[in-house]
Amino acid sequence: MPLHIDLLTLFPRMLDGVLTESILGKGIAANLLSVKIHDLRGWCTDKHKTADDRPFGGGAGMVMKPDPVFAAMEQLQTPACRRIYLTPDGVPLTPAIAQDLAMQQHVIFLSGHYEGIDQRIREKVIDQEISIGDYVLTNGTLAAAVVIDALSRFIPGVLGEEKSLTHESHTGTLLDFPQYTRPAEFRGMSVPEVLLSGDHRKIEAWRHTQQLEKTRQVRPDLFEKHRHASRH
Ligand code: ADE
Repeated sequence: MPLHIDLLTLFPRMLDGVLTESILGKGIAANLLSVKIHDLRGWCTDKHKTADDRPFGGGAGMVMKPDPVFAAMEQLQTPACRRIYLTPDGVPLTPAIAQDLAMQQHVIFLSGHYEGIDQRIREKVIDQEISIGDYVLTNGTLAAAVVIDALSRFIPGVLGEEKSLTHESHTGTLLDFPQYTRPAEFRGMSVPEVLLSGDHRKIEAWRHTQQLEKTRQVRPDLFEKHRHASRH
């Protein structure tokens, strides 16, 4: 059975196009995974479809109410499912986390909103909390889309060439080398000579040097990690 994903959000239209475009769209069309987006308002039972309320103890902003989320989870969850809350105070997303999610049968994403969600949701109907980075989005819907896109690449068959997974940034610890395609001369800018040489050992050495230099400049943290790893 392919992985099934349910995504609970108050803003389902933010994801128009996400499930049909690009490599993720192709993977879904090929039934390598399935994704269903749910409008959380469907579980708001009062006549105004209220999803949030003022925080106990005071303070600015609104808090997502527990009852619609509990009702939605109770309807959607299955015994082996993983329930994930997207939040800037979650564990930062890594390739290992994306890969682990890709190996599940059923994942439910909850996108938060406003100043947060009632703590009882996090304690009772959430298994894992993920952040996509140290910045704050207006809500977690785009973060859920990012996690889904990142995990889809670890599902066998989603990427055309399996080798594209192993040869790129962050699967190792170095950033990528520069790529060029035709024409060899464009508006006075030429492709580095070595790439036209046909000498594969030289090309590999050049690419490695480029990766080291780029990583040293842009991500000194990764550069140190790489230096440390290659010493052992
Ligand atoms: N919701 C708001 N900001 C977020 C972030 N950085 N990661 C995950 N969910 C979020």
